[in-house]
Amino acid sequence: MENFVVSARKYRPLGFDEVVGQEHITTTLKNAIDTNKLAQALLFCGPRGVGKTTCARIVARMINGFEEKAEVNSLNIFELDAASNNSVEDIRNLIDQVRYPPQFGKFKVYIIDEVHMLSNSAFNAFLKTLEEPPSYAIFILATTEKHKVIPTILSRCQIFDFNRIQVSDISRQLKKVADREKIKVEEEALHLIAQKADGALRDGLSIFDLMVTFSSGKAVTFKDVLNNLHILDYDYYFQVVDGLLAENHTQPLLLLDEILRKGFDGHNFIVGLSEHLRNLLVSQDARTIQLMEVPEATKQKYLDQSGATAPSLLLSWLSIANQCDINYKSSKNQRLLVELALMKMAHVQSVFKGNGAAPTQEGLKKKVN
Ligand SMILES: Nc1ncnc2c1ncn2[C@@H]1O[C@H](COP(=O)(O)OP(=O)(O)O)[C@@H](O)[C@H]1O
Ligand SMILES: [Mg+2]
Repeated sequence: MENFVVSARKYRPLGFDEVVGQEHITTTLKNAIDTNKLAQALLFCGPRGVGKTTCARIVARMINGFEEKAEVNSLNIFELDAASNNSVEDIRNLIDQVRYPPQFGKFKVYIIDEVHMLSNSAFNAFLKTLEEPPSYAIFILATTEKHKVIPTILSRCQIFDFNRIQVSDISRQLKKVADREKIKVEEEALHLIAQKADGALRDGLSIFDLMVTFSSGKAVTFKDVLNNLHILDYDYYFQVVDGLLAENHTQPLLLLDEILRKGFDGHNFIVGLSEHLRNLLVSQDARTIQLMEVPEATKQKYLDQSGATAPSLLLSWLSIANQCDINYKSSKNQRLLVELALMKMAHVQSVFKGNGAAPTQEGLKKKVN
């Protein structure tokens, strides 16, 4: 059997131009290196899986002028994972190494990952080295929790804040990988994976690998990803809103039943519905439509449905959904709470039309049917 290398490792960028969604950082770093103005202590902050370690390794290779294509040039790069090596001993070992100038290249680069995990005494042992490092030493510290890094370290570092990666950037990157691997994929499937990745490109690639394994040589489809990731198909929300627009609560209630029977959670449903309503609102204006992170084909569906819906109605629905969301956790009968919200939404229009007058018996009969 061929050795399988996970995509997150196989597609680790080897140059700044391949790093996605961190232009503010890659540009600054590149300029600093080109003009010999790189600080000796850098701190990379940001969520996991967004390119911190990747950029640290690129910096290390570039300042030594090493061949870009060599994946690991470990000669002058020392990595310490502070999550598992956080004692004073570990730091002392590192400081001992720092004393010796590099044998090859100009710089020794020390990458300390999850630096906030260092023990207090380890931090203190490290401070002096960080303050007065030998000219050939560069320290790149990385952390997912900047607020846990002590101020004395923060003030000695040049700080780079990494972004979460946008859904569109993740899905574009997944598409590239799919093309390179000659794997057939539906664009909407990649989009779902990208959403599930929640800003972390590494997670996006891992989920992608899983889906590819599942599809075993066939195309990766939207439906398969929905099922595997247990994501609610957003088509349900379009159908619920169609029902609400017809001032009919029967269809939304039946849909809710179907969704709950599939094992989805009522709270997630109401939060998802709110998101859908918000998407309808922003798609009513060409200037806000770009705030929506959905594939092009889906945008059109939103445009169609939002054209049929008055903004004031959307706002009323949103506030009912929001109330339901707030009360959900404390409710004894959560299903009823969601059902009630749907019924209110279905009939909120006629309440307004009737100018607040109590509905007649005749009117009620009509609505129920
Ligand atoms: N900004 C990015 N551009 C391209 N690939 C990325 C990016 N961020 C993460 N990746 C992918 O995820 C993997 C892990 O990224 P890494 O740099 O180790 O993340 P972390 O921020 O947790 O250190 C990389 O090998 C690469 O495949
Ligand atoms: Mg890392």
